[in-house]
Amino acid sequence: PEKIILDCDPGHDDALALMMAVASTQIKLLGVTTSAGNQTPDKTLNNALRMLTLLGTTDVPVAGGNHRPLMRNLKIADYVHGETGLDGADLPEPTFEPVDQPAVELIADILHSQIEPITLVVTGPMTNIALFLRIHPELKNKIKQIVFMGGAAGQGNVHPTTEFNMAVDPEAAKIVVNEGIPLVMAGLNVTLKAQICSDDLERMRKINNQVAQAITGQMEFYGKWYGQDEFGLAGTPVHDPCTIAYLLKPAIFETHTAYLDVETQGQLTAGETIVDFAGLMNRKPNAKVLMNLDRQRFVDLIIDLLHQFD
Ligand code: BDR
Ligand code: CA
Repeated sequence: PEKIILDCDPGHDDALALMMAVASTQIKLLGVTTSAGNQTPDKTLNNALRMLTLLGTTDVPVAGGNHRPLMRNLKIADYVHGETGLDGADLPEPTFEPVDQPAVELIADILHSQIEPITLVVTGPMTNIALFLRIHPELKNKIKQIVFMGGAAGQGNVHPTTEFNMAVDPEAAKIVVNEGIPLVMAGLNVTLKAQICSDDLERMRKINNQVAQAITGQMEFYGKWYGQDEFGLAGTPVHDPCTIAYLLKPAIFETHTAYLDVETQGQLTAGETIVDFAGLMNRKPNAKVLMNLDRQRFVDLIIDLLHQFD
């Protein structure tokens, strides 16, 4: 199996990604760290613990991360994810505690304990990972790749060209993408196509286990915001699961290899991801950018994994 650490800010689509990572035998989840993002850090941490309790995986170490972006005030997305950050289903109270160390130190301990480099999956703002790389540069070579949801090679979702995770902490993202670690970017240009439509929700609703029921309730809540006309979408885009789907079934995706950087200065563009498709910057490509996906196979994968909890 692919060994991963998941750094997330659950968050509905983060919760779905977490479910997939736990359900698949092709992935070994070594740790979960949480970031401030969709909601305040106390809530995203609690949501990770509640989801893992629901999933029956209480032996994975979980650590809470930094409380705010490196240089900016935290902006949350409660208008998408609700008061708890994961509204729409009754989740159990956590039956286990986070570890007694911050996210950065849990990541360090896990990487230390590994002989081979492992994959970091990031589905929230990159604050924890940037801090980790600054505090523990000696462990950089233990990171095989960073597969992240963030950015957009095209339209944004918080500003015309900026995506939420990158916009929350542009400086952190800039640090992370410039470390020379192989990157896989699942940006809005692909994740807006990773939609769950009403027929798919119907299939999910019929799966007779607690996990599927909770996820279906969450998706119904989360779908309301993306159902608004400004996006003109047929279904609900589930961004973060594209990272796990890429690890499990890379053939579902079309990719383009390019140089990637992040804008931090622009008044209209702070947090914009710059993907140099034409090689105009003459820089060595550092990222595999997911461009397109086979939506039906993506949805089928999610449904298959939900059945693991039958
Ligand atoms: C990203 O922002 C968050 O609201 C989602 O969880 C996802 O990671 C999409 O822009
Ligand atoms: Ca997220």
